[in-house]
Parts: sequence; C-alpha cells; structure tokens
Amino acid sequence: MPDVVSLIRTKRDNARSLTAAEIGWLFGAYAAGEVADEQMAALLMAIYFNGLDDAELRAWTGEMIASGETLDLASLGKPSVDKHSTGGVGDKVSLILAPLVASCGAVVPQLSGRGLGHTGGTLDKLESIPGWRASLTSAELNAVLAGAGAVIAAAGAGLAPADRRLYALRDVTGTVESIPLIASSIMSKKIAEGTSALVLDVKTGSGAFMKDRDKAVELARTMVDLGEEHGVRTRALVTRMDTPLGRAVGNALEVEESVSALTGQGPDDLMEVTFALAGQMLALAGIDADPREAITSGRALDTYRRMIRAQGGDPDAPLPQAEHRREALPAPSDGWLTRLDALAVGVAAWRLGAGRARKEDDVSHAAGVRCLAKPGDYVRAGQNMLELRADDPARFAPALDALADAATIGGEPPPAVPLVVQEVGR
Ligand code: URA
Repeated sequence: MPDVVSLIRTKRDNARSLTAAEIGWLFGAYAAGEVADEQMAALLMAIYFNGLDDAELRAWTGEMIASGETLDLASLGKPSVDKHSTGGVGDKVSLILAPLVASCGAVVPQLSGRGLGHTGGTLDKLESIPGWRASLTSAELNAVLAGAGAVIAAAGAGLAPADRRLYALRDVTGTVESIPLIASSIMSKKIAEGTSALVLDVKTGSGAFMKDRDKAVELARTMVDLGEEHGVRTRALVTRMDTPLGRAVGNALEVEESVSALTGQGPDDLMEVTFALAGQMLALAGIDADPREAITSGRALDTYRRMIRAQGGDPDAPLPQAEHRREALPAPSDGWLTRLDALAVGVAAWRLGAGRARKEDDVSHAAGVRCLAKPGDYVRAGQNMLELRADDPARFAPALDALADAATIGGEPPPAVPLVVQEVGR
C-alpha cells in the first residue's frame, strides 16, 4: 500500500510519475481523513513546481470527477453544450450566450461558481435581479433546462467535492497558479456536469488569470485534451483581456448591459467575443443556426426572460442602483484613448464593493464602474473617462488609487486587433 509521505517525496524530487493506482489511493485516503490537509498541501506545492504528466493529469482529473455525482442530461433529448470562461473584467458573456445558444436549439447547463478577486462571478451578477435564485435542486435544474433550454446555477456540493477541498487548500497555500491543477479543477466540474460539448474562453492579458499568451494557450490545450479524453467534445478560444469587455463592470451594471446586448444594442467588443463563442458552441452541438438572427428576431431575449423567471427572478424589476456616483479618470490631454487597463478597472470595481476578498463576503449589487470612454475613442483634456458607483462613498478613495496608471492617451488611434487570438481544438 502506498504511503503519503513517499508520494510527496516522489513528486517533490520529480523521481518518477505517480501511477493511477497511487493517485486513486491518495484521493480515497484524503476523503477518508487518512491523509491530512497539510500533507495534501505539501503534495500540491510539489505539483506546483514539478507539474503532472498527461497520464497523471488524466488520473487526477478522473478521481476528482469520481469523488461526487455526475449529472445526466441525455433525457432532455437535445444536444447539450456549455461554455466556461477563465474570468475577465466586464466578462458578462455567459449571461448573453446561454440564452442565445439555447434559443437556437441546444440545452445549455451552466453550473458556475462565485467571483473571487478582481473578476466578477456570473452568479453574483444574476443575483442582482430581484427574486433570482442560484441554488437549485437537481429536479429544479432539469425543469429549468426543459422549459427554458438554459440554466445558470450554482454547482451543487455533490459535484466534484474533491475539487472544493483542494481549491480551498490551494487558495491559502499559494498553489492556485498551476496549469495542471487549474485544468483538472475546471474540467472535473464541467465533465461531472454531464455536458456533451464544451467551449472554453481562456483569457489572456492584463486582466486575466493567465497574463502570458503562451501559458494561456498551454492551459487551453491541456483542458481541450482532458475534455476529449473524457468524451466531451471540447474547443477553446484564447481571447484578449487587456481592457474591460463592454462598458459595464459590476453586477447590476453588467446585467443591464447584457439585456441591452440581447436587444441588439451590445457594444462591438462584447458581441465579437459572444458571437465567436456562439459559433463554436453551435458547431460542436451540430446546430446550423445564425446567432445574429437569434438576437434580431428577439428569440434570445425571450429565452433569457424565461430562464430568469424559471429561477424566481423578475426580468422587469428595476435593478439596484448605487447611492453614490462619481466621474473619474480625467484625460490628461486631447487624443485617442489607446489603453484602459483591465486589471486596474477590475480592482477599482472590486474595491467599490462589486467583488469579494473572501468567500464569505457579501457583494454590493449596485457598485461598479462604467467606462465613459473605451480604447479607440477620441477624448478631450479633462474629460472623465470612467464613472464610479458605490453604496458607501468611503470606497471611492481606494478605487481611485487603483486607477492611478489605468489609461494612456496617444496621438494616433490604437490599431484594431481581433479579440480572438487563437483557436485550440483537436
Ligand atoms: N477556476 C477553477 O474552477 N479552478 C481553478 O483552479 C482556477 C479557476
């Protein structure tokens, strides 16, 4: 029988690969309380430094999936396809994409987590809609999918529970930023969710988890391989996250912008990413439909309204409004806005109250940032480029600190660059 200290030493010294049997034993012993958190944390750090090879990663992910239940969506009788984003600033694409793709004939089971740090969580955004509920039982989840075709809900505690424990350990031991650990964490939850196809939006740039493009491509490839090996048709788009997506950053502000997008009024950059991902999702689901037509015909908006109502929300209710608003970031000169840094705006929105620092924190639904100017816009000296919103005016000063070097003004318009930098598939 393996013992955990030998496994830690083996990984620490990069002596050889761990076998599938050893990894299976480890997960069983950890679940049974025979391996302590500090031992698992030491192993995670060894993996952070020495990685996992393909066979180890397959076994590791398989154990995470097998640690809990797997959902079965086959009874819905339609192709299922989901999307996952590694998280960006102003990234409200899921809110538009799930009803959009469902309105074209797929079922979209989006089981999500909450936001942590400077990127917002989809559930936090939707919770700004009065009455909307993120936590559904399996029966409710199936009923929403059957009625609306799309559901966005909290991943239940039964789905890949080993990931919950490991993620909590990684969070407090500096071992989150490891490609095999991120890939197995994301993919175990998506595979357990039962979707037949999956499109990944892997962000790269200043506001992304993976700032470096090569690393983002490596993460995308790793996740695509894992999905395909587990029978999920998987593709990834690596997309730029150097500036906020759209003009709204913050929970209710992003819901408002998503609804505008579903009525055909979405900002160009947001729609570019949305349509690129929709095209991939429909192709993987084998559906020949035009996502633009789903918007112009009003079908996507109808599906969104049905999805919100099916989860107790009132799509017509007024959204929370912040009590305090303040314009900020005056342009230092006339010229073209060539850079509006995603990370700075994301941190400002977070400090205004839109995000949480610890899992147990509450978020403000009304707080956030509106971009009054975006890269490519011409601005005049003194013109404010952002509007900040908060429930508590004491939050403005720390948000302004985050914005000290957020923008650059140039004499020429910035070059137009496509947001999709690479497509990764098998
Ligand atoms: N999101 C996840 O679900 N897991 C990670 O490890 C990182 C981001």
